[in-house]
Amino acid sequence: MSQLNELCWIFLLLMIPSTPAMYDHYRLPTALEPLHYNLRILTHLESTDQWFEGSVNIDLLARESTKNITLHAAYLKIDENRTTVRSDKDNNCFTDIEVNEVYNFYILHLCQELEKGQLYQLELHFSAKLNDSLSGYYKSSYTDESRKEVHRLAITQFSPTFARQAFPCFDEPSFKSTFNVTLGHHKNYTGLTGMPVLGCEEHDSLENYIWCDHEQLLRTSTYLVAYAVHDLKNAATEESDTFNRVIFRNWMQPKLLDREMISRQMAPKLLALYENLFQSNFPLRKIDQLTVPTHRFSAMENWGLVVFNEERLPENQGVDLQQQKDKYAETVAHEYAHQWFGNLVTMKWWNDLWLKEGTSTYFAYLALDILQPDLTRGERFIAKDLGTFFGKDSSDTVPAISKDVKDPSQILGQFTEYVYEKGALTVRMLHKLIGKESFFRGIRSFLSKYSLGNVAQGDLWDSLEEAAHLDFNLSRAMDSWTLQGGYPLVTLIRDYKTGGLTLNQTRFYQGQNISKNSPCWWVPLSFVKQSLPDFEQTTPQFWLECPSSTQVVHLSGVPAPDEWIILNPQVSTIFRVNYDEHNWDLIRESYCNDPNSGGIHKLNRAQLIDDFMALASVKLQKYDKAFSLLECLKKEEDLLPWQRGVGILNGLGALLHGQEAKEFKIYMKRLLLPLYNSFPKLAGIALSKPALKDIPFLQFVYSQSCRHHVDDCINQAKLLNTFHRNGSQVELPIDFQKIAYCSFLEEGGEKEFLTIFGLFQNSTNAAQRRIWASALGCTRDFKLFEQFLDFTFKSKEKLFSDCYMIAVRTALSREYMVTPTGNYILSHAKTLGEIFKKKELTGLLVSLAENLQSREELEQLSVHLKDLKEYEEPLRKALDLGQINQKWLKDCSSDFSEALRKRI
Ligand SMILES: *[C@@H]1O[C@H](CO)[C@@H](O)[C@H](O)[C@H]1NC(C)=O
Ligand SMILES: *[C@@H]1O[C@H](CO)[C@@H](O)[C@H](O)[C@H]1NC(C)=O
Ligand SMILES: *[C@@H]1O[C@H](CO)[C@@H](O)[C@H](O)[C@H]1NC(C)=O
Ligand SMILES: *[C@@H]1O[C@H](CO)[C@@H](O)[C@H](O)[C@H]1NC(C)=O
Ligand SMILES: *[C@@H]1O[C@H](CO)[C@@H](O)[C@H](O)[C@H]1NC(C)=O
Ligand SMILES: *[C@@H]1O[C@H](CO)[C@@H](O)[C@H](O)[C@H]1NC(C)=O
Ligand SMILES: *[C@@H]1O[C@H](CO)[C@@H](O)[C@H](O)[C@H]1NC(C)=O
Ligand SMILES: *[C@@H]1O[C@H](CO)[C@@H](O)[C@H](O)[C@H]1NC(C)=O
Ligand SMILES: [Zn+2]
Repeated sequence: MSQLNELCWIFLLLMIPSTPAMYDHYRLPTALEPLHYNLRILTHLESTDQWFEGSVNIDLLARESTKNITLHAAYLKIDENRTTVRSDKDNNCFTDIEVNEVYNFYILHLCQELEKGQLYQLELHFSAKLNDSLSGYYKSSYTDESRKEVHRLAITQFSPTFARQAFPCFDEPSFKSTFNVTLGHHKNYTGLTGMPVLGCEEHDSLENYIWCDHEQLLRTSTYLVAYAVHDLKNAATEESDTFNRVIFRNWMQPKLLDREMISRQMAPKLLALYENLFQSNFPLRKIDQLTVPTHRFSAMENWGLVVFNEERLPENQGVDLQQQKDKYAETVAHEYAHQWFGNLVTMKWWNDLWLKEGTSTYFAYLALDILQPDLTRGERFIAKDLGTFFGKDSSDTVPAISKDVKDPSQILGQFTEYVYEKGALTVRMLHKLIGKESFFRGIRSFLSKYSLGNVAQGDLWDSLEEAAHLDFNLSRAMDSWTLQGGYPLVTLIRDYKTGGLTLNQTRFYQGQNISKNSPCWWVPLSFVKQSLPDFEQTTPQFWLECPSSTQVVHLSGVPAPDEWIILNPQVSTIFRVNYDEHNWDLIRESYCNDPNSGGIHKLNRAQLIDDFMALASVKLQKYDKAFSLLECLKKEEDLLPWQRGVGILNGLGALLHGQEAKEFKIYMKRLLLPLYNSFPKLAGIALSKPALKDIPFLQFVYSQSCRHHVDDCINQAKLLNTFHRNGSQVELPIDFQKIAYCSFLEEGGEKEFLTIFGLFQNSTNAAQRRIWASALGCTRDFKLFEQFLDFTFKSKEKLFSDCYMIAVRTALSREYMVTPTGNYILSHAKTLGEIFKKKELTGLLVSLAENLQSREELEQLSVHLKDLKEYEEPLRKALDLGQINQKWLKDCSSDFSEALRKRI
């Protein structure tokens, strides 16, 4: 590849001023449109060398006349001597090749101009090594333990910008084309693409090699093209109940064949479910599900060839946490929602990535609850996401869910929880805002109108607007939620004489003073009143406008002065609410004392607690009142409000020390006691075999009760552990093992520690190891814990580094372990920075910062890490959080502790 000579360009510029300077835009020019690719890839997986070679023949339509062909290529060896540009009439040639390293452009400067409206063929020949980069066309392997043989395979991961590492192409989502793929490989392997094989023939020179043509793939973006050459086994071939009777095959390495395959069972059902929900037939006839040993993500939704990461696979039935299985089921449901959101209808550019990730995440939640309503998985995921974003989004550095990105690293950096989970909450907001029927009508017309095409977020707004016949401007409203980060605090003051409601808004910041110059949102207002507690009525009665000023509204049925009003039923939109004192009193009275919690929806009950605690932390409310509201938990029978309330309390409790910390513990014991007593004894859990649907609440109750030493929880945990370890026939259910082992270690000494550590070292079951690792962090003796840390630290295995992280997080949540564990992290920071990814380092530092009590400790953190580049962003996030906590300690903790003291 030749680089353009700069001197030559300066010369050209002087001579012909109208020629543009270096092409410095991050997007490809639109003068050429690729219509079809013929791709031939020959894969070599010999033991000595693994590489691939191939050719691509692209049909191009010139939309404008142009004298260059600009497309993407990266890390490919392109044989320039074999590059051709042809039309039906004649052959073109090129004078020069230019390469742009930042955007991976490969530019052919042509001898003759391509003419507007004409068709051309570009042919390129290339080759590259298969390495284990987890991007482009990469290699992986597994070992057949019985024969001690290494088996190699090659697979693609093209999303978001890696197709260009496998073949030269127009690697932007809006350049959709059809693809004919032909794979060449040794007969020992199976070659897969997104489409069925048409036919195969012998390779004319390589012995035992074949070439197989695959059917044409329908119009698609490059990031969704996929192929693989492998010798994995097919666990089962199954037909689904869809329009095309799609055939599923399930490929994996032989030792996994007897695993409970959530993807195998769920995928056909999910595909049929979505087909029905979206009223849109899945267009392909087959899907291969490939479970591969190594992968960059949890899974990838490629058309016709869906790939799952073996590392995320739950262990066999009964030997992995329900939580792990729920997460995996969510992943499977997410990938199949993508077949419509992403594959069929694709975002024009990566700024709108949330249009496929947020929708697929949300529809996955809905699908899980439709498939198995009693497990309430979707509902719990939504509650968790709400908790996360109300917490996270209150700092001033949070990104918008739709934000512009340019180069490949920014594009990869777009795949964050903002696009996925906050994106999902935004789709949920749309659903609740316009109501179920209009929402699905709009979604269906969106999918049908843009089928095999590309969209921007405005197209979604338009489809929904058309379907719903709204009396408000949906685009304007929704843009205010997707194009800026954060969320508002709405203040609602009632006039009890006139019945009028006065409202205003401001952005909510934790640890910062509320400012008058705040951004604003179009906030949908739906009110629920006590005499008619209909929390299903989520379409807005009014809007709080943006730009904003104080607004007064009058409800048609004027609420009586002695009944509460609650804004934002089901928390369908992300905003906090502060009410006038009397309304808060009415709410608390009713929640605490009325039967059925006054009819208040469980998500609103959780949110009332969350809002009040947040308001107290910025001094807009008193902690005394917050603790009165927390008293309502004593009668609370649902997990969600408990989880949110206790989660927030634990976070604040971790910041206290001395007498205040002691009082906090007493308070938590009191708070949890009635709940603990309303559940069966922990030691009986092995015999009672709890139903799947009850596991989350049971886990919460026992883990929190044992953490706070409620009643006989610790003794029960020890008893459970003794039963189990005395060779009893009764299995200790995996979901409760952590609780049992944790108490065993917390109360035990060296002997107990070494027992569990020994089990950890000997185990071959990854799920079991993670559980032991998390329990090992419960020891009170750092010297013992250090043995574990040193052991896992030295190992290069991925599983061990996972276990390291899990154990450290447990340790950091125990006040007696925070300081030594923190010191250990700092003294090993450099090596940790090499082992872990930025996301993991952020998690680690944030857990540490959450538990640091003094400014000095925080300063130590920045002193130690300031010269380590990998820690730049994690450190900034940790310090932000640390500063918010320090401010809370200074301004609020005495108010908090005083209010708490009155209740113990
Ligand atoms: C290639 O052609 C397009 C369309 O004519 C033009 O916009 C672009 O600047 C050209 N690129 C280079 C490097 O000359
Ligand atoms: C391309 O052709 C040139 C001139 O004929 C030759 O020197 C060069 O080795 C060729 N390159 C390759 C990769 O075959
Ligand atoms: C894989 O190959 C690419 C391109 O040659 C290189 O940049 C990358 O570092 C390699 N990755 C690994 C893990 O070897
Ligand atoms: C193909 O499989 C046969 C039989 O299992 C084996 O002997 C041979 O070494 C394999 N060849 C390659 C290239 O993998
Ligand atoms: C692509 O493959 C289809 C068969 O699936 C064939 O009909 C078509 O002619 C091929 N297109 C090209 C350009 O080779
Ligand atoms: C909705 O608001 C946008 C501005 O955000 C405006 O461009 C558009 O014309 C409005 N649509 C209608 C129907 O008023
Ligand atoms: C909103 O209203 C409340 C109550 O009247 C008032 O205290 C607050 O300052 C107002 N906030 C803004 C941003 O106007
Ligand atoms: C671990 O395995 C070794 C060898 O199989 C055995 O001797 C040892 O007792 C085991 N340790 C534990 C704690 O099970
Ligand atoms: Zn996704």
